[in-house]
Amino acid sequence: MCFVKIANNKHVKSFTLHDFNNRMENHFDFFAFYGIIYNESLKKCKKFLLYTGGEINSMSEVIAVTSGKGGTGKSTVCAGLGNALANSGFSVVILELDFGFRCLDLFFGISSQVRSDISDYMSGRCRLKECVNKIPAVPGLSIICAPADFSAEFDCEKIAEAVSQLKNLYDFVLIDTGAGADKRVIRALKEADRIFFVVTPDNICIRDVSRLSDEFYRYGCDNQRLVINRVHKKYIDYGIVDNLDTVIDKSGIQLIGVVPEDNALTLFYGKSAGISDGSPGYNAFMAIVRRICGENAPLTIK
Ligand SMILES: Nc1ncnc2c1ncn2[C@@H]1O[C@H](COP(=O)(O)OP(=O)(O)O)[C@@H](O)[C@H]1O
Ligand SMILES: [Mg+2]
Repeated sequence: MCFVKIANNKHVKSFTLHDFNNRMENHFDFFAFYGIIYNESLKKCKKFLLYTGGEINSMSEVIAVTSGKGGTGKSTVCAGLGNALANSGFSVVILELDFGFRCLDLFFGISSQVRSDISDYMSGRCRLKECVNKIPAVPGLSIICAPADFSAEFDCEKIAEAVSQLKNLYDFVLIDTGAGADKRVIRALKEADRIFFVVTPDNICIRDVSRLSDEFYRYGCDNQRLVINRVHKKYIDYGIVDNLDTVIDKSGIQLIGVVPEDNALTLFYGKSAGISDGSPGYNAFMAIVRRICGENAPLTIK
């Protein structure tokens, strides 16, 4: 599902990567275009645009992932979405801000390779790029871990500075937060382009996320989207919630994706592997990627 989007102020054109490469080979006239580029062969594209005198705006996006309650699946969504974005040809870094509850190293089976974390950068012990860990099993995906201890200070200014540096280096910066309405975290996330609120479809979680959404609005974070996670038919059968529309209505946040309860999302963790291709969880994250890119992707779970 890789595609190239090239835009000038009049036109936006989307091509499949294959189509794009063919057109490049045939010297398709891109002279008039400059702009937003999503593709696997960004270098090739850059070269081409430089050659034609085009101007490049590599459009990177910061997505913060949060929730009112712990355990709703924020880290799972970051890992799954990061995996899906990287498999779609984007460069992605996940910045983990759940201080004291580092877990993404375990998810991706790289605990032994982590030398520094974001607190080392904040306190000046290392440069930002020194805390970046590449995920060997998922080319294009990197993570920056949260400190494992609780004593590390959370410095909003430094975090915001790190995010803006990362924005220049990656197509997507995903921020995995802790649960709740910590003002310092909300302030650090002010620059995020979108906030994803992760809920499980139960009334307690939904009420919390609705309140958290209001709090983010107060700080000016209004580009909010809802991810409903761990959806299983039993939620609906047992009458815990009427249906997914109820979750959306009660939370008051626009839906971007529904992720099913799927063991494939937990089994790959710690195995130094990506999520198995074609599993329901994998498909759900690929659908979210398509929606992020502005495509229509139908919901697969009702
Ligand atoms: N869609 C899912 N299917 C199966 N298990 C899931 C799913 N989402 C989360 N989990 C499991 O739920 C637990 C909590 O998820 P996690 O992502 O760590 O939550 P959070 O980051 O919000 O605290 C983990 O054990 C994770 O593997
Ligand atoms: Mg987490």
